[in-house]
Amino acid sequence: MGEFAVDKHVQYILSVEKRNDSFESVVMEHLRMNGAYWGLTTLSLLGKLDSVDLDEVISWVMKCQHESGGFAGNIGHDPHILYTLSAVQVLALFDKLDILDIDKTSGYIAGLQNEDGSFSGDMWGEVDTRFSYIAICCLATLQCLDEINVEKAVNYILSCKNPDGGFGCTPGAESHAGQIFCCVGALAITGSLHHVDKDLLGWWLCERQVKSGGLNGRPEKLPDVCYSWWVLSSLIMIDRVHWINKEKLMKFILDCQDIENGGISDRPEDAVDVFHTYFGVAGLSLLEYPGVKTIDPAYALPVDVVNRIFFRR
Ligand code: FPP
Ligand code: ZN
Repeated sequence: MGEFAVDKHVQYILSVEKRNDSFESVVMEHLRMNGAYWGLTTLSLLGKLDSVDLDEVISWVMKCQHESGGFAGNIGHDPHILYTLSAVQVLALFDKLDILDIDKTSGYIAGLQNEDGSFSGDMWGEVDTRFSYIAICCLATLQCLDEINVEKAVNYILSCKNPDGGFGCTPGAESHAGQIFCCVGALAITGSLHHVDKDLLGWWLCERQVKSGGLNGRPEKLPDVCYSWWVLSSLIMIDRVHWINKEKLMKFILDCQDIENGGISDRPEDAVDVFHTYFGVAGLSLLEYPGVKTIDPAYALPVDVVNRIFFRR
């Protein structure tokens, strides 16, 4: 099993940020705010957040905020709940939540709740349990969960629970590990995990580990490093993480590193990207890999950042 190439990964993240004309940054232009969250959280977990220019990042983030209070993926694009959470998380990483107009931002998110308790992603109305998680995580971070109907939000999430113990994106939709993270995370943040059958869901989640040690997102799918996060964080939140083989998963993640140029890919030998680099490092953090800071499984931010948000004020 290869060593964890910390310095190479830090160099990789910093170089992606600078290479504005690279294929990856062109493709990612509209979701640059998510890229900022993935890259900067990786640096924070590796103790290297001070390698970036704080003022430059914060001024760019604030230029992405709209009149409505929502944030866009980049300057001049439309706002969406996905980018609004990433923007709030980036501000939290830098301890800069105080520059935010909290009422305006929380008002945008609260305005996306529908009558049945679900959330739309933006003004166009697509509904998905991803957006329920995002709304709940973001409002909890801003300490204004009381601006939405939490009971209805929880009941909507519970209506997306399947007989196999998992959750899907809407009622009746197939269980998927990414959606399970969202539903379990939202239930954890709102203190509602007692609604989950932990043994049944834990069984579905630990069945995601395949021979190579990697985890997949659904039955019959290939393993993928990002599911180290979606599956493992969920198992931790329901106290069933001891049901998977941690050593084998650690080896799978380390085998997905580009040892020469840095970065982590979805599977061994594939091309690296910032998304999988973040989720690989976050997975190692959940596995308590030495030298990687601890990440909070519900808020998807380093534990020291979460503690600063909730225990300072
Ligand atoms: C898999 O996506 C992942 C999901 C469906 C969950 C996405 C969750 C969010 C966007 C909420 C915010 C997340 C964090 C960590 C703060 P995929 O499209 O890769 O699925 P596939 O593997 O089936 O293609
Ligand atoms: Zn993936």
